[in-house]
Amino acid sequence: KRCHKQVWAKHIFIFFTLFQKPIGILTTSAGKLVELRETTTLNSDSFSNQYFVDSLSHSDAERIPERVVHAKGIGAHGYFEVTHDVSKYTKADVFNGVGKKTPVFGRFSVAAQNLGGTDLVREQKGLAIKFYTREGNLDFLCIHIPVFFFKDPLEFGPFIRSAKRNPRTTLFDTTMRWDFVTKRPDNLHGQLWIVSDFGFPNGYRKMNQFPIHTYEINNKHGEKFYVRFNFISNQGIEFLSDEIAREIGDIDYFNRDLYNAIENGDYPSWNLEMDLMTMDGIKKLDYDPFDVTRLWKKGTYKTVQIGRVTFNRNSDNQFRDQELSAFNPGHLVPGIPGPMDNLFRGRRFAYRDTHTHRLGVNHNRVEINKPLYWKVYDRDGVPPVRENMKDAPNYYPNSFNGPVPYVDPSRPKERLVIYESNAVDLDPAAEFYNDFLQTEDQRERLVNTTVRSILPIPPELQRRVIRLYTLTDEDLGTRVAEGLKRALRMPPPPPPRVIRLNPRKTNDHHQRHYYST
Ligand code: HEM
Repeated sequence: KRCHKQVWAKHIFIFFTLFQKPIGILTTSAGKLVELRETTTLNSDSFSNQYFVDSLSHSDAERIPERVVHAKGIGAHGYFEVTHDVSKYTKADVFNGVGKKTPVFGRFSVAAQNLGGTDLVREQKGLAIKFYTREGNLDFLCIHIPVFFFKDPLEFGPFIRSAKRNPRTTLFDTTMRWDFVTKRPDNLHGQLWIVSDFGFPNGYRKMNQFPIHTYEINNKHGEKFYVRFNFISNQGIEFLSDEIAREIGDIDYFNRDLYNAIENGDYPSWNLEMDLMTMDGIKKLDYDPFDVTRLWKKGTYKTVQIGRVTFNRNSDNQFRDQELSAFNPGHLVPGIPGPMDNLFRGRRFAYRDTHTHRLGVNHNRVEINKPLYWKVYDRDGVPPVRENMKDAPNYYPNSFNGPVPYVDPSRPKERLVIYESNAVDLDPAAEFYNDFLQTEDQRERLVNTTVRSILPIPPELQRRVIRLYTLTDEDLGTRVAEGLKRALRMPPPPPPRVIRLNPRKTNDHHQRHYYST
């Protein structure tokens, strides 16, 4: 196994060795050269010192809102290379022409933690990838489990709040989470993935990633296909247990691992493939292939290889690239009209909306989000506006040669309309427990993780969880109930050991504040 050098610790020295002397004379933000005595305010009139006013007020304003989910992450640059000819399925330029390379930017993230939180939590990890294609940006937002929690976009706010901090205690509170899961049991399948071995990958390099939704794609003849994309890790996949994570104890374990790997030249890569169905195939199914809370059934699709994404360059400024990046699953290209399910339609709105809140209305003009080519009628707003389309006509349609739309003769004439059931189907969760998990050890660990998670919640809610697990699968419910009984009989853990200083008596005023007497 390759062991990476801890290069993260060296970065600041590398900068020092690259430049033999300071990289220039310091200035204010308006470019005035700063004189040495302006670098302190002591013994001087601070408000006559523009450098002081400038730098203090800039520090005051240097935070922007963190992402409402997936707030903590790390970004890296790379490229996508087509390895297989898929032109008979999609005319998307980015996926056509074996050997064609397209630059990408990727952002790896933890889901419910705040900025500065820990990587070492059992929850879905994200990977968002922006392909800078010749036909516009193509964004895939993925998580490391292949099913999502719910189908109704209205569940997003409650789902997220129940997984994040309690408004009074500031603490992550599993009572809220299990309360919500039992009130909305469509969440159970995803939740079982999270409490299983698959819920806790060993770092960002060692996980697969899934955009989940069923995408419509079409070729240049207008023929349509239905696909689920998969990003399969070439590093293999590995998982952590809660105990091992506690031993590791490094809140930046995932970021550190990814950064070191790329810096050491061990570039992580993922093969992009798609599970594919035809329209005829879809008509014969006995399940809903557009339901994001379930997997496609074995034998109902084939898998087609497309290419490989490789990340080969760490960002040299994470705020500029990663914090300002705005991924939107609605950023699609010709040949990939995309998913039609209700959740996806909700997401088309949600991401645009949240980016306007977080980054401003011109977020797609920020360098990291800028497509290779753009001509728009949108104008003005909070900067950056770039050249703001200069003096081109600013309304459409117009008679004065402003940008015009193109005509795509191969665009399919009609799109599917999907009607989704709101009945709760526990079968996918039962299949996960009985078939997808292959060994008794795996099932045992799922049970134990559930028990640990429900141990602190009120008895009435524990009973509700066990009822839902039992409805899903009798054996699963019984094992959780028995595990919980055993856990409740165990003595509570001893309080943590602390350092208490009891030295000889002292009359020193300051020492008395610190030493118990
Ligand atoms: C109704 C459903 C959903 C809504 C409303 C929603 C909303 C959001 C919002 C508001 C953000 C923060 C974006 C930002 O501030 O830049 C976000 C991030 C993210 N979402 Fe979703 N989401 C939904 C479902 C999903 C699904 C199904 C997936 C994956 C299959 C997903 C994957 C991600 C990822 C990976 C990020 C992090 C993006 C980044 O790195 O910037 N989300 N989502």
